[in-house]
Amino acid sequence: MPVANKPVLFYAIEAMKQAGITDIGIVVGETKDEIVAAVGDGSAWEIEITYISQEAPLGLAHAVKIAKPFLGSDNFVMFLGDNLIKNGIVSLVEEFARRRPNAQILLAKVKDPERFGVAELSGGRVIRLTEKPKKPLSDLALVGVYMFDQSIWEAVDSIKPSWRNELEITDAIQYLIEKGLTVEPHIIDGWWKDTGKLEDMLEANRIILETMDSRIDGHVDESTRIDGRVVVEKGARITNSHIRGPAIIGENSQIMDSFIGPFTSIYYDVIVKQSEIEHSIVLEKSSVIGICRLEDSLIGKNVMVEKSDKKPKAYRLMLGDNSQVGVF
Ligand code: G1P
Repeated sequence: MPVANKPVLFYAIEAMKQAGITDIGIVVGETKDEIVAAVGDGSAWEIEITYISQEAPLGLAHAVKIAKPFLGSDNFVMFLGDNLIKNGIVSLVEEFARRRPNAQILLAKVKDPERFGVAELSGGRVIRLTEKPKKPLSDLALVGVYMFDQSIWEAVDSIKPSWRNELEITDAIQYLIEKGLTVEPHIIDGWWKDTGKLEDMLEANRIILETMDSRIDGHVDESTRIDGRVVVEKGARITNSHIRGPAIIGENSQIMDSFIGPFTSIYYDVIVKQSEIEHSIVLEKSSVIGICRLEDSLIGKNVMVEKSDKKPKAYRLMLGDNSQVGVF
């Protein structure tokens, strides 16, 4: 899933590369083919990628277990592929290497801690971690970036599956705490997003678009107006339109007689015609035609949203699993 036209996973890979990690194992499940197609062998980043197949989503601690042949006796960083951290992990990896705790966890203050693993601290030390508690005892969520030494192996082998039938990494770290090992908490101050929900995706998209520099590599005709931070990738064609940044128009996309408003990412090979789109993400190979207007939306790939003159007047929808539509 791209944020500001870059797959979320690429931000994680880049954060690790920046921290000097060049040997990365990616635990893959049913989306393996898509991930392999996007990431390849890692040569685009000059790193080495090893794919580790997980036969079913049996939990994060299970993912660690099956990565053992890859990890060997190295200390390691576990970075959840749907997590985005603004300030990267360079200083965190340095801190872990210098202080040598058994584990280092990152925490962030959130409004909805019940959606996450939650940490209780006392005097700066972690006293308890609970996965998705119904009644959270703090507002400190576990960020999906963890650093471990060899003591994690005994922990992942000792815990039992949770109520959601997963081997939870949160329980494995709780095991370390109960054994008296050192689990260093680090409260992060920059923003962090777990991009599992639409609102979070749109917010991450907004934050990243705001940091981009303007660049026009595609074709913009004379009757188009461009305001603010706008990226137009090569092969994109914009005619008789108004693009108000921050926004990005991906490779080979066509925008005709349309308005693209702030905080919008249009991915590659998209067609937008006689439409208005704001604060939205449109994925590859989709088309939006004659629609005024789309806001706060995520349009998947190969999707057609088109105004139709067919009678009787009605909404005609073909929606995949887990879709949501808001009509007026
Ligand atoms: C996982 C972890 C949770 C953590 C979250 C961060 O949750 O289990 O402790 O707070 O990632 O993104 P999941 O994505 O499995 O719901």
